[in-house]
Amino acid sequence: MNKPLSMTGQKVMLVPQGEFELVRNPRDELLQAWDAADEFLLNHLDEIKVRSRHGKLLILNDAFGALAVALANHPVYSWNDSCLAQQALRDNLLANGYPSDQVKTNPGIHFPTVAVDCVLIKIPKALALLEHQLYALRRVLHSDTRIIAAGMARNIHRSTLNLFETILGPTATTRARKKSRLILVERDQSLNEGQSPYPDSYELQVDRTTYRIINHASLFCRDRLDRGSQLLLENMPAADRFRRIVDLGCGNGVIGIIAAALNPGASMLFCDESYMAIASAEENFQNAFARSRAATFRVDDGLQGVDSDHHDLVLINPPFHQQHSVGDATAWQMFKQARRVLTAGGELRIVGNRHLAYHSKLKKLFGNCETIASDSKFVVLSSIKQK
Ligand SMILES: C[S@@+](CC[C@H](N)C(=O)[O-])C[C@H]1O[C@@H](n2cnc3c(N)ncnc32)[C@H](O)[C@@H]1O
Repeated sequence: MNKPLSMTGQKVMLVPQGEFELVRNPRDELLQAWDAADEFLLNHLDEIKVRSRHGKLLILNDAFGALAVALANHPVYSWNDSCLAQQALRDNLLANGYPSDQVKTNPGIHFPTVAVDCVLIKIPKALALLEHQLYALRRVLHSDTRIIAAGMARNIHRSTLNLFETILGPTATTRARKKSRLILVERDQSLNEGQSPYPDSYELQVDRTTYRIINHASLFCRDRLDRGSQLLLENMPAADRFRRIVDLGCGNGVIGIIAAALNPGASMLFCDESYMAIASAEENFQNAFARSRAATFRVDDGLQGVDSDHHDLVLINPPFHQQHSVGDATAWQMFKQARRVLTAGGELRIVGNRHLAYHSKLKKLFGNCETIASDSKFVVLSSIKQK
């Protein structure tokens, strides 16, 4: 069945709390900004009559703000690792007649510390993030706090339920509705053993230097160097040629850290849309260079707000997933932004999955693209911004 559209042509979520016009970030007119699990959860809250008098709500991992907007007349705190998700929430609050700061959000990786009366959790893609969040939750739950998680059934496994059971207490799941499920959790106050194992770390040996790379819970490839990143590290541009280097979508910062080591005189800019990525990159950079090097760390959507024609090298291992969906729109946006911030003669060097055909995209954008290296799965490509 087609979803209703508003007067402005946006998709509208119809739930017992009202009708809400919602968009995604990045914008995608074809895809909805909420899923059946959001609808199930909002219907359930209405059935059990959670109303504003039930006090403070904490919402975790609300991808585009659907839950927080529908519940914005409650005192709501929304925690999200993604600044794109936070921007979607602000946009959707405004579109539905609220001020953009109606719902409080986290300014960094830390969790709120005040007690909450109801916690709503959307199951994140990274199980490690869920594990970390469940430990952090123990500090804000009181004996009557309701804990309800929601997700698409395909993303809820035995291992997901085990986390709830071992960290918080007895856990039950509902029947599936439109392929989504709710997880209902009772806090067992006697379960207090253990703590979050994140950030965790691995050792990386490059030339004769060993780096200890720490990774906060939401990070891509937390326990080892990703094969694509490794191929890029093995095929970095020649040392000591660059003055201003950007690591875009830096994750834990490994690519930029090695670029900094190869170019001791260069200033470094690390950018990622994830708070936990930037916290990891900053800590890893400080461990690698102590106070001897300065660098800038930005949580933002790509290179938004970064000066044009200013950098001479941009390095990218582009994302392939956003939340639970897959595509190359973000990679394309990153390539365009990289071209904008490069000086004439500056280089974009990337690694990507062979099947994504980034070569033709870069050729179209820069007018040139050289294959530097490849293996059965990945390819390292270089494009130069023409004068
Ligand atoms: C494939 S990972 C690469 C991480 C790291 N550079 C490496 O090679 O190990 C892609 C990174 O892009 C980040 N990312 C995704 N969308 C982004 C956006 N719009 N702006 C900035 N970073 C983004 C993700 O958070 C993730 O850290």
